[in-house]
Amino acid sequence: MRRFVRLLFVFFLILGLLYLANELLRTDNPIARAEQNLKLGERVYRENCTACHGEKGDGKGPQADRLKTKPRDFTGGIYKFRSTPSGSLPLDSDLARTITRGVRGTAMLAQLQLSKEETEPVVQYLKSFSSRFQNEKALPAIVIPPKPPVTSSLISSGKSEYQEAGCAQCHGVAGKGDGPSAKDLKDDWGSPITPADLTLKLFKSGPDPQDLYRMISTGLNGTPMPSYASALSDNERWALVSYILSIATREKPRGMMGLVGEEVEGMRIDMRAAMAGMMGGRGMMKRDGGMMNRNMQEMMKDMMGK
Ligand code: HEC
Ligand code: HEC
Repeated sequence: MRRFVRLLFVFFLILGLLYLANELLRTDNPIARAEQNLKLGERVYRENCTACHGEKGDGKGPQADRLKTKPRDFTGGIYKFRSTPSGSLPLDSDLARTITRGVRGTAMLAQLQLSKEETEPVVQYLKSFSSRFQNEKALPAIVIPPKPPVTSSLISSGKSEYQEAGCAQCHGVAGKGDGPSAKDLKDDWGSPITPADLTLKLFKSGPDPQDLYRMISTGLNGTPMPSYASALSDNERWALVSYILSIATREKPRGMMGLVGEEVEGMRIDMRAAMAGMMGGRGMMKRDGGMMNRNMQEMMKDMMGK
């Protein structure tokens, strides 16, 4: 009888341990899930982002040198494109928005090849590059009030606001990015930076009035573009937005596939990374033939500039 009880005890002990192990390994266990998520994020990052942002997330990828607008160094936790107040960390949704929309005019293309199930993990992986995300919390997003109707009087008050608030100091009287302070500006990463040409219909933060309102309110961390959340009222900011949209009429010349500026470089780099991934190394590109037909080869040569 004693032996039976002992056996029973051992049996339940083993059962308990098995249950515990199973609990820890289950994918719906929060810790295991976070770890798996991060692993997936790392894979997505390696395949899609390292060429520019570098394996360590320091912005020093093998293709970074050829770009004028440098890939972001993620290690400092400083992000330009946020919905949060100046100086704050971004929200996850801000990072996801930049990844799915890209940054117009730069090599950072919309990462349309990524599914939603891949975007979220890569956001978590980006955050793991900077200890700021462990030590600080992002401030709540700024509120974007309803957009007033655009009238000629709103636009003209935006025009005078533009001069009074000192925008012209950097962006120039006519908004061409050539104000007296425009020269020799640097960003926090030490690269030269120029104030945006506001006569171009090409905004990094996004094309909608709400995107511009958000950007003027939050500023662009890491750049000389300040936040005007406390200096200007809601109405003054909306007036500025409608004025800027009224002068943003020029299209920048479009290159290959309708791409603008360094987007062309970005496409070349992304295509190369995709080919390398697809072929498990660059085996097929080296040989002049293989599975690709001639047209395809010509197109690839044209895109890759060789
Ligand atoms: C072809 C080069 C290239 C590739 C590939 C690339 N990026 Fe970028 N990325 C850039 C550049 C250049 C910028 C800077 C744009 C700027 O500052 O105006 C940038 C900026 C960003 C930003 C904005 C940071 C901020 O300040 O708000 C995020 C987020 C980002 N990249 C994430 C990614 C992720 C994730 C991937 C891979 C899925 C990726 N990038 C792939 C070039 C690239
Ligand atoms: C001290 C210089 C400086 C001042 C003052 C300044 N800006 Fe900027 N602004 C910049 C720089 C630099 C950039 C480009 C940032 C980049 O490319 O990453 C920029 C970018 C922008 C953009 C483009 C954002 C985008 O998403 O592409 C807009 C719009 C803008 N500024 C509006 C304004 C307005 C409106 C004011 C005044 C209320 C103003 N700026 C004041 C330096 C300045």
